[in-house]
Amino acid sequence: EAPRDLQIGSAVWGQRDLLGHDPQDPTAFQQILAAEFGSLTPENDMKWAEIHPEPDVYDFAGADALMAFAQAHGQEVRGHTLLWHSQNPGWVTEAAATWTCDEARDVLEDHVRTVVGRYAGDIYEWDVANELVQDEWDAGGVRLRTEANPFLAACSDDPVALIGDVFRWTHEEDPESVLFLNDYNAEGVNAKTDAYYALAQELLADGVPLHGFGAQGHLSLQYGFDESIQENFERFADLGLKVAVTEADVRMPLGEDGEPTAEQIALQAERYDKMLQACLEVAACTSFTVWGFDDGRSWVPDVFPEGYATIMTEAYEKKPAYDVLLESLTAA
Ligand code: G3I
Repeated sequence: EAPRDLQIGSAVWGQRDLLGHDPQDPTAFQQILAAEFGSLTPENDMKWAEIHPEPDVYDFAGADALMAFAQAHGQEVRGHTLLWHSQNPGWVTEAAATWTCDEARDVLEDHVRTVVGRYAGDIYEWDVANELVQDEWDAGGVRLRTEANPFLAACSDDPVALIGDVFRWTHEEDPESVLFLNDYNAEGVNAKTDAYYALAQELLADGVPLHGFGAQGHLSLQYGFDESIQENFERFADLGLKVAVTEADVRMPLGEDGEPTAEQIALQAERYDKMLQACLEVAACTSFTVWGFDDGRSWVPDVFPEGYATIMTEAYEKKPAYDVLLESLTAA
């Protein structure tokens, strides 16, 4: 349970975990998902490669299963995502090699209108554009990820105009949905969020229906925590935007036994709570979403030599992180 209108959510992969969901006989995972969360984000089901695998083929099975689950349990849904450099299907990558900007625009517009239109009215927030800005350590430094994104690359003369159009198409198809920019390494005030702040101002000045800024919240105990998350949220809120923590998890390097230390477990709880506190302190924060709630389904071990990132173990035992979040929500 959350105070005011703050939604507490989890990512879930409908194709993997919800297809064939039987409300009379839910799995243990499904029971927890229904009982603990008011909002769901499709971890993969609405990404291009999953939902639009061939030029004339849309596959809505996973996304439909997620929408049906949410509806059956009175949950909200955050859409994810329409414009991203990653997880694009092979046909997009191939076609992009010869696209003119007009061709890229047409393909993107058709996709956005089809996907957003299908779920219009049922998605309270959309991560319209994901990970648009490079990191300091990327070649070229902090700037738009134009070359890596097939759509922006085709329209490299004015990528911001295309970004604006994606927001406009989304808004036309679903006028009630709150439309977000979303990225990682975007919690605190830093060079990357400075770039987003400038981009948000530019889009708003152009009359683009941009409504929110999402910090993903993928943290690692290998690194320090930037305490300026509340300050960062406040500056976006001052632009008139909503803010959200959209993909929270806190991973860590594990010992040879594969287990975290007591100190790591406590520090993980503290980091989760700091992200939630920023959300509780800033009235414009609309949602706090964890990127999956159980270690057995976490994306982390596939990508990093780290783990223990979520708020429950593989056996669904609640970690101190879970308890601390619940306490903070109850106290708020
Ligand atoms: O494409 C095949 C699919 O056809 C097949 O059904 C499936 C069977 O296992 O494998 C598929 O690929 C997987 C893909 O997700 C599905 O789209 C990959 O193996 C898997 O590695 C991939 O990982 C996802 C990753 O994004 C890349 O899209 C993770 O599950 C997901 O947690 C992660 O989420 C991202 C956010 O979207 C954006 N922010 C960062 C976050 C973590 O990387």
